[in-house]
Amino acid sequence: MLNPYERSAEVYDLYYSWLDYETHAATVYDIIEQRRPGAQTVLDLACGTARYTEQMARWYDVEGLDISESMLTVAHRRMPDTSFHLGDMTDFDLGKRYDALICMFSSIAYVTSLRDLGRMIRCSAAHLDPGGILIIEPWFTPDVWNEHHVGSRVVEGDGLAVARIDTSVMEGNLVTMRWAWAVAWDDGDADAYVEEHPTALFTVAEYTTLLEAAGLAPEYDPGGPLGRGLHIAVKR
Ligand SMILES: C[S@@+](CC[C@H](N)C(=O)[O-])C[C@H]1O[C@@H](n2cnc3c(N)ncnc32)[C@H](O)[C@@H]1O
Repeated sequence: MLNPYERSAEVYDLYYSWLDYETHAATVYDIIEQRRPGAQTVLDLACGTARYTEQMARWYDVEGLDISESMLTVAHRRMPDTSFHLGDMTDFDLGKRYDALICMFSSIAYVTSLRDLGRMIRCSAAHLDPGGILIIEPWFTPDVWNEHHVGSRVVEGDGLAVARIDTSVMEGNLVTMRWAWAVAWDDGDADAYVEEHPTALFTVAEYTTLLEAAGLAPEYDPGGPLGRGLHIAVKR
């Protein structure tokens, strides 16, 4: 079985073409401007193919960080002049500070222990000046996860079609998702593979406790861009 996004990075943008990055980024911009007017720099944690990075570049100097080389290959293609760092958001030191760090579209799901969630938050706080902002769009909370979920979706793009069927197994707060991908191109080529995505579900209280402990003042918006909530925390 393949690692997360190892092969699917190439079809990620097509598969998630339903996601309205432009509108969601404008919401994130409003949140930053309300709390840190005049902000200039943003680091996009777990930036993936740089869809949020690209949108935040409408207002800020941006950089991205991701653990997946294949996702960063697509990010570089999208924004060749932007700095992207290959790294782990639970253990990074870029030697500088930013006005805001964002971690969007539930990328935080891939942090699979409370210890690592604490590390991610502490590393993030170390990259903020007082008054700087950390914004995390969380994954689901344990109480709303549907343990026996299966799903499927097919998307057609310019010269290719992508299908993904999903299943998952839950043990405690750990959810291992298995995504079976099938891709077909109009030159007659076709491919199929399975990726395993280990994720974890955390409660709002767990985030709040860790954000407070890292010297941040947390707020929680239960809505957020996708109804999954939004943690907004300003460094004290
Ligand atoms: C659902 S994608 C979201 C990508 C992007 N933020 C977006 O909104 O399109 C999750 C991303 O998290 C990245 N990721 C997973 N674990 C990570 C880690 N420990 N450190 C940095 N990036 C990580 C994956 O490589 C992937 O690009």
